[in-house]
Amino acid sequence: MRHLAKDLDLLTELHEQVLQEAGQGDLVEVLRRFQDPDGSDDGDLAPPRGPDQVAAVSRAATVRLHLTNLADERHRARSLRTEDGEHGGSVDTGDVGPTVGSVGPQARDRFARMCLHPVLTAHPTEARRRAVTTALRRLAEQLDRHADPTSGPTERAFARRRMLEDIDILHRTSTLRTTRPQPVDEVSTVLSIFDTTVFRALPRFQRAVEAALAAQDEGPVDQELPSLVRYGSWVGGDRDGNPHVTAEVTRATMEAQAGVALRTLQANVERVARSLTMDEEGTPPSAALREALANDAVALPGDFAGIAKDSPSEPHRQKLLVVAHRLEATAQGAASTAYTDPEELLADLALVRTSLRDAGDRRAADGELLHLVWLVQTFGFHLAELEVRQHSGVHVQALVELLGHVRAHGATVDGRPVDEPERAARDPQVLDALARHGWPIALPELSPATREVLDTLRVMSWLQQRWGVRCCGRYIVSFSQGADHLVAVRALARLAVGDRPLRLDVVPLFETGEDLRAAGSTLEEWLALPSTRSWLEERDRRVEVMMGYSDSAKDIGPAAATLTLHRSQQQLVSWASRHDVELTIFHGRGGSLGRGGGPLHRAITAQPTGSVDGRFKVTEQGEVIYARYADVRLAQQHLERMASAVLLADSPDVVRRRERAGERHAALGERLELASRTAYRALMDTGGIADLVAEASPLDVLGDLRLGSRPARRGAGSGRSLADLRAIPWVFAWSMTRVNLPGWYGLGTALAAETDRDALRAAYREWPVLSSMLDVAEMSLAKSHEELAGEFLDRAGRPELTATILAEMRRTREQVLDVLGQTTLLEHKPHLRTAVERRQPLIDALSRVQLRCLEELDATGADTEEGRPWHRALLLTISGMAAGLQNTG
Ligand code: PGA
Repeated sequence: MRHLAKDLDLLTELHEQVLQEAGQGDLVEVLRRFQDPDGSDDGDLAPPRGPDQVAAVSRAATVRLHLTNLADERHRARSLRTEDGEHGGSVDTGDVGPTVGSVGPQARDRFARMCLHPVLTAHPTEARRRAVTTALRRLAEQLDRHADPTSGPTERAFARRRMLEDIDILHRTSTLRTTRPQPVDEVSTVLSIFDTTVFRALPRFQRAVEAALAAQDEGPVDQELPSLVRYGSWVGGDRDGNPHVTAEVTRATMEAQAGVALRTLQANVERVARSLTMDEEGTPPSAALREALANDAVALPGDFAGIAKDSPSEPHRQKLLVVAHRLEATAQGAASTAYTDPEELLADLALVRTSLRDAGDRRAADGELLHLVWLVQTFGFHLAELEVRQHSGVHVQALVELLGHVRAHGATVDGRPVDEPERAARDPQVLDALARHGWPIALPELSPATREVLDTLRVMSWLQQRWGVRCCGRYIVSFSQGADHLVAVRALARLAVGDRPLRLDVVPLFETGEDLRAAGSTLEEWLALPSTRSWLEERDRRVEVMMGYSDSAKDIGPAAATLTLHRSQQQLVSWASRHDVELTIFHGRGGSLGRGGGPLHRAITAQPTGSVDGRFKVTEQGEVIYARYADVRLAQQHLERMASAVLLADSPDVVRRRERAGERHAALGERLELASRTAYRALMDTGGIADLVAEASPLDVLGDLRLGSRPARRGAGSGRSLADLRAIPWVFAWSMTRVNLPGWYGLGTALAAETDRDALRAAYREWPVLSSMLDVAEMSLAKSHEELAGEFLDRAGRPELTATILAEMRRTREQVLDVLGQTTLLEHKPHLRTAVERRQPLIDALSRVQLRCLEELDATGADTEEGRPWHRALLLTISGMAAGLQNTG
């Protein structure tokens, strides 16, 4: 903590110097007063007068908040480096060593089956521009160099100068995007994460697990640890509500991903090859390796001659250089020497490793060569499995159009005429027949929307032929409400690709309260369809089901959503075991509170028994991606924590405790679910809530921030329907108003209705579902601000709604404090509390400035000469608050 304070002081000093040098010394004073208000009227501190001053203040505050975040991040990363080894970590913090120790000898088998599957999405939750994140990365390096005890005065002076340069750049870089990012821009952002950290973090993570296992093995073990991680991506694949993601974008995305995967593999193979300088005398190659080299000599005559000349008598090195050469050919699509699939590459690596091992060189066989194996197992030639997502309603529309053609032709499906295309498009039996037997008509002239749906399926088939079946086979159906929505994709695929090969894994996404409750029966009905049954057999009875955390919270409130998700997962587990299905639950969680955010480690161990079973798949979005993958060490720790939690989730002790608590508190859970849902729905159904949030907050201008390629609303119109509004802007807007309603609304009423307070407290202590729910609410409330919330809400001119919301806010705060046995929020979470407190004064000041901008805009209108600078200033306050609140998106 002392180091953190020192870093913060240093960064503040440098920032102030930059402001002085830029002739903006007045901002130094403003920020100081913001951060240290005398308590009287912090809102009126030197009110910046015109929009230009407001903009300047917002920018300066934003830089300060970025610097605060950076100091925190470096502190986390450095503590990992120094604590590691000293204290050996602990089970509670998710370190893999102690967790493996606590699980005991079964850990090795459990790791052998483990699959961690993070899925990166392009969700528009990263408010920072790439220019800002890269400047922050450079600063991070220099800050580390400055803090490094081995750096001398010259080194430190050098680091200081570089930091000043980068802070100056940050100060002069607009935080606003001038153009909306296109899906390809989002793809390159994600690719850079792989390039900078994921590739390097993976082998480190694997080694950490290996070391933890070795520490408790009693004798030699010949079971090799397979790679535990697979990455997925939605970037360039998720087209739900995003018309910019087309079949062509999906194709180009996979090309780009494969380019990065193959280039990185090639570079790594070359690097390892250069080090394999053992000569054939001391380390003779195996007969198999000799034979392989003889074949390579004739298959790639010119190149092999060069390799053999550069590395004479070094057969292991030669082979690996051939491998690098073939990877290059694979990237270029050079048919004669390209690898057909990653398996072939793995076989080559195994050949070299076995040869080294046979020659007695285990060190080299199990050293960096094993890293290469892990990289290939994880990334294949495709980097991340690209997933397609589309809204169920889009398929229904396409089917109505297509079935209209069937009717017009007088054709039949399964011997029956199609009288009503609308009905047939939602009839699972009709769709199943189309999926199995094909369509009774030739492809007609189609609307662009339907053509796009079919093209997407075609492109999936094409990509699988080019880069292997793993590269793009999942098709997620958002708002899945029945078996018809699931079989629809298979029926459409049959028309799109006919008999051409396509491995299509349809993944239902359940996201409203009602859909989650009906999930079991939807799956039951889906499974009864012959097309589902035969697919299931082909896929070894593996099924993935996705759960949407944000939309469920938006639909029924955060507390009811948590409990409904939990119950629905229990139902899915029993559905899977009844049908002998290997189920993977895919958690669609956002980073922010109200969208499933909160500590991942805790959330995993809270999962219902049987729902994890070694497999954990989860979305990682926007800011969360940067928080987890900003640095190799942080990325490694993130993977370790996930692995530890997955291991613990099924450990007998945790299972016993969780089940006992689950049974003991089941009735309480049901009451809380019902009461919180009723309270939340009552507010949503009052009427006017959509207008309220739009008028109280800067919701209508969020689109102008150009955070991502997709629009804020699903529907095309600019209306204010709540159903149309996506969960992300919904949560974002509430955080700007400092109400943070999606993190807690309804919980206070539900808790207040419980008379047995001791039972409630016991449930908080014992039942992880309830504890994580209350902790999330506590955090949301800690970031809210009642007085400012009142001012924002007042803007909408609905005093009765404002009163209801603020009363529930107070009630929830009182209730949470009572159950947690505290007098202030975050009382028992000192780290979090300091992190919040450190940012709060600046955020509060930005909120006030934001209110001012909104008022000015009310008077001028956004699209007037006077209004435009205020509109820009408003956007700057939003991006500043996003930096400060961190889990806004
Ligand atoms: P979605 O995501 O709108 O893409 O389903 C919501 C979220 O992650 O909050």
